[in-house]
Amino acid sequence: MRQDPATTPRPLVVAHRGASDDEPEHTLGAYQRALDEGADGVECDVRLTADHHLVCVHDRRVERTSNGAGVVSALELARLEELDWASWKTRPDAAEAPDADPERGRLLTFRRLLDVLVSSGDEVLTLVETKHPTRHGDDVEKTLVQTLRFFDLDRGDRPGAPRVRVMSFSTRALQRVHRLSPRVPLVQLVKASKGPHLPLDGTLPPGVRTVGLDIAILRRAPHVVERFRRHGNAVFVWTVDEQADAALCARLGVDVVITNRPRSVMRTLVPT
Ligand code: G3P
Ligand code: CA
Repeated sequence: MRQDPATTPRPLVVAHRGASDDEPEHTLGAYQRALDEGADGVECDVRLTADHHLVCVHDRRVERTSNGAGVVSALELARLEELDWASWKTRPDAAEAPDADPERGRLLTFRRLLDVLVSSGDEVLTLVETKHPTRHGDDVEKTLVQTLRFFDLDRGDRPGAPRVRVMSFSTRALQRVHRLSPRVPLVQLVKASKGPHLPLDGTLPPGVRTVGLDIAILRRAPHVVERFRRHGNAVFVWTVDEQADAALCARLGVDVVITNRPRSVMRTLVPT
C-alpha cells in the first residue's frame, strides 16, 4: 500500500507524465517506469479527440511528441493510434531498442491508463489534468466523469484502488467536475508566469481543498505554503526536478511533489 499523505513525513512523489525525463511522456512505459522506481503516484494530461475519446497528451498539437501532424481535438482516435509516440525521445544511449516493446510508442488513452492502474490493485495517487477544457463546452468533464464512473473511481478513495484527483488551471472546469461528481477531489493549479491567476491568500474556490503551485512561486514566496495549510488546504507543487527544490518542498511540509524525475527526487527525499 502506498503512503497516506496525512501521515507520511515526506512529500509524496508523483511522476509528471510518467517518468518523462527518461521515457517518452504519457506512454505506458513512462508510467510503468515511474511505478517501478517507487513513485507514489502519476500525473497525466487529458484531451478530447474529434470522436470524443480522452487521450493522454499534453500539447494541443501532436508534432512535438509524435510523428504526425495536426491538432488532437481535430483528429480521430484511430488516426492518433497510428502514430509513433516514442521515437522523438529515443536516445543513442538507450538500453533497449525503441521497438523492443510494441506498446512503447503507442498512444495511451485515459481508459487504458486507468485500466492498468486499477489492475495493479495499488492505491496509486492519480492526478488527472484537463487541458483547455473550456474549448469543448463541458464535454471534457462529462467524458472524464463517465470514465471515472466506469472504473468506480468517482466516489472517493477506496482500499486497493487508484486515488484520483482532478486538476485544472480552469476554476470553471473544476466546478463542472464538482457538479457532475461531487466526491472527486479537485486540485486548483496556479502558475507563476504572468503572475498567479488566483490570489495566493490560502483560500480556494468552493469544493476545492488542494492547490497545485508552480515551484517558481515557492522559490519567491515560500510562506504561501503555510497560508494554504492554515486554511486546511493541501499543497501540491510542480514541476520539482531539482534536488534543491525537492528539499525546499520537504522543509515547507508540501504534501505532494510532481516531477519528471521520480527516482532522483525519491533519493533526495528518502536518503539511503
Ligand atoms: O502538474 C501540473 C503541471 O503539469 C501543469 O503544467 O504544462 O506540465 O501540464 P503542464
Ligand atoms: Ca499537466
